[in-house]
Amino acid sequence: MQILLLLTILCLLSTINASCELVNGQCPSECNQVKGECVAQNCFDFTAKLGDSQTNPFKGSIAYIDGTIDLNITITYTDPKFSDATIKGITKGENTESCLTLKLYKYQNSDHQIRDESSQTINYINDGSSTRGYQFTIPSKDFVKELQLSDNGTSFIFQGYYGFDFNIGSSLQRVLYFDFLAGIDRTSTSNLDTSFGSLSQKVELNCTGECVTSTTSSLKFCSDEACASPTDKADLYLNDQIWLKHTLTKDGTQVYYLTNPEIHFTGDKLFKKANIISSKLNQKGYAMYLIKVEIAWRSVTISAKATISSTAGSRILDESSRLLQENQGSTQGLTSEIECVKDKDSNECIDCDESLDVNNIDEPQEDGCPTGSSGLSLFFGSLILVTLFI
Ligand SMILES: *[C@@H]1O[C@H](CO)[C@@H](O)[C@H](O)[C@H]1NC(C)=O
Ligand SMILES: *[C@@H]1O[C@H](CO)[C@@H](O)[C@H](O)[C@H]1NC(C)=O
Ligand SMILES: *[C@@H]1O[C@H](CO)[C@@H](O)[C@H](O)[C@H]1NC(C)=O
Repeated sequence: MQILLLLTILCLLSTINASCELVNGQCPSECNQVKGECVAQNCFDFTAKLGDSQTNPFKGSIAYIDGTIDLNITITYTDPKFSDATIKGITKGENTESCLTLKLYKYQNSDHQIRDESSQTINYINDGSSTRGYQFTIPSKDFVKELQLSDNGTSFIFQGYYGFDFNIGSSLQRVLYFDFLAGIDRTSTSNLDTSFGSLSQKVELNCTGECVTSTTSSLKFCSDEACASPTDKADLYLNDQIWLKHTLTKDGTQVYYLTNPEIHFTGDKLFKKANIISSKLNQKGYAMYLIKVEIAWRSVTISAKATISSTAGSRILDESSRLLQENQGSTQGLTSEIECVKDKDSNECIDCDESLDVNNIDEPQEDGCPTGSSGLSLFFGSLILVTLFI
């Protein structure tokens, strides 16, 4: 009996699924064809809410999440059909009845030519009100990875370029490009400034044909300059010098050189640029960097960004490197996350008070921590000592 019931349900499910599918290029009459995809008739209830070339129903906002410097990015729209459970929302994430899927991409810049799928999770604003939308969070430990970093002398400016693809199957219905910036005081992560930039929607992607994904590379630890066996994990000791190997990993790119490297220590509130003591850039497919472990922090990742060039160290670009520059100009390699930076004598993790503001530009304190506390307590400590002696 139960088996029969189960079979009936399975049967029903498969007829529902099969009801709108192309058969010999034909879409059944009770369905609709949209850009070559066969969809249920109510699909138009969802696609209609995307607006058209004249109207853009979406709005964006950005804010720091209370008590952190993590970013909260929210894209909202007003749903006129929000009270009808069968056709509320736009995407499957809001309403399983929908024919539209949603994906988040990050772009390298405002040309929107090079993109990668973002690993940030999309949260759906689905609280039963007419304001609906999509939210995602970028934790500060991912800023160097996700955003474009520049420095205006007093603040780091992190610029984000993102896009939502609304698809039916593999067919793009709409792309929503948006960007924003987050300014963070270099010496105290407490002064913050953020603004949402532009938001535009298009029927076609800006990158015609296939969008290029960014050139991948790996960043590994070496025990010495020869680096016979690079490793994913390493014990990092404060003030030690370590060699890193940055290797191009995308097929076909191993013939290029890596130049103009920039290395950062990253973690929660941490984006400290490393001083490169020495580098070896004159071989194809990889580069070697010698840096000092100049900072202590927990859950730290090292990032190396470099320009891809067809000639070693040269800034004069030939035609092929010009194309390369336009297509996939830079690459970023990341080490795996290291639990902590250790003290060499005790072999123990160095504990910084990570709730404090971080100074990401000046030399860290003697204990390796980029937070002002120890320096301050040392100062007050000596003050007390001095007072005692007087
Ligand atoms: C993000 O911002 C939206 C809109 O301002 C707000 O409703 C939401 O609670 C925020 N989320 C977090 C995690 O701060
Ligand atoms: C599309 O790309 C062109 C040139 O690459 C750029 O000027 C334009 O701003 C881009 N438009 C959008 C909406 O990204
Ligand atoms: C640097 O950027 C910050 C954050 O956007 C801004 O408040 C500040 O005025 C800028 N400073 C200069 C010198 O442009």
